[in-house]
Amino acid sequence: MALVGVGNCASAFVQGLHYYGIREKEEQCIGLRSLFLGGFHPKDIQVVAAFDIDSRKVGKNLSEAIFASPNNTLKLVDVPRTDVIVHKGPVLDGVGEYTKNIVRVSSLPEVNVAATMKETDAEIVVDLLPSGAVNASQWYAEEALSAGCAFVNATPVFVASNPAWGKRFEEAELPLVGDDLIDQVGATTLHKTLLKLLSMHGVRVTETYQLDVGGGTESLDTLERTRDVKRIVKTKSVETALPYKADVVAGSTDYVDFLQNKRDSYFWIKGLYFCKVPMQMDLRLSTVDAPNAGSTLFDVIRAVKIALDKKLKGVIMPISAYAFKHPPQLTPLATAEKAFADFIRENYTS
Ligand SMILES: NC(=O)c1ccc[n+]([C@@H]2O[C@H](COP(=O)([O-])OP(=O)(O)OC[C@H]3O[C@@H](n4cnc5c(N)ncnc54)[C@H](O)[C@@H]3O)[C@@H](O)[C@H]2O)c1
Repeated sequence: MALVGVGNCASAFVQGLHYYGIREKEEQCIGLRSLFLGGFHPKDIQVVAAFDIDSRKVGKNLSEAIFASPNNTLKLVDVPRTDVIVHKGPVLDGVGEYTKNIVRVSSLPEVNVAATMKETDAEIVVDLLPSGAVNASQWYAEEALSAGCAFVNATPVFVASNPAWGKRFEEAELPLVGDDLIDQVGATTLHKTLLKLLSMHGVRVTETYQLDVGGGTESLDTLERTRDVKRIVKTKSVETALPYKADVVAGSTDYVDFLQNKRDSYFWIKGLYFCKVPMQMDLRLSTVDAPNAGSTLFDVIRAVKIALDKKLKGVIMPISAYAFKHPPQLTPLATAEKAFADFIRENYTS
């Protein structure tokens, strides 16, 4: 696979490959949803190319680049030197107004991205660019098409959920999945589950909100470029958990630099139960952002490899609905989980 964007998410992902790659038994794999998926172990995932624009990452071995500033996620393991040197890609809209003092653009020449993907035999391109990098994400989707690679869009940019891109990948006979990866311990999933539970028990929820604060570069980029769209998408998604109308706000993000890559999600729920007696709930979920994407990414990459081997093309719905917040069609959690398990079972041939 080829990594596009060697930021915090890529760092946790690459560290996870080394952490789990040497483990053989399920009981040694705390924190991973599945050690084997469709016959594939994490050690079967190989990063063969990586692209970035930051001078502290470009030209460096991937094992060093993942720990370079401004990455600020946890160091989980030592990563031995790899054969992968981070290449420079075009900047396009990769740097926003708020992040221009944090990202240092490398002066090294850009490589031919599609040719590099081909030369390294990459089969799957994973887009981990900043969420505001709309043009850059689309540009890399185009390069994946030229190189004959499947495309995984972990960012909230609409690629898989845009029918035009779905058609392009279908015509090219390549798989496409996205958009916006679901976290393993996701605030939106938790919020919806709590609301569903309360309403199932007869509680009339009247008001609820979910607010996030984080300190990664991505939180700063979100604040500038994608906060509004994220708020609309998440609020709509949370509203579906209640069978009646309530005041719902979800997905507002703010940036607190000293939090580093930590994220605090605050949930407030107010409602009425038996004889309209009031109840309220005030919760905080504290996570580190980047490792929260690791387990889902492991599942997605292995499932996309199965799709490639089966010569499936266009948007792969069972993967997109299971692992992404904004797939082409929203699917209830339980249905998406089942469809994914069925997809793996039906398409896996040992
Ligand atoms: N738990 C999670 O962290 C999580 C969950 C779901 C989705 N995502 C998405 O994953 C993406 C990455 O998140 P992150 O925290 O790693 O962000 P980050 O800001 O730490 O990393 C982005 C990387 O992209 C690089 N970059 C910028 N423009 C580029 C370009 N034109 N070409 C190549 N590289 C470029 C930056 O230098 C940086 O290294 C975001 O879109 C985020 O919304 C993350």
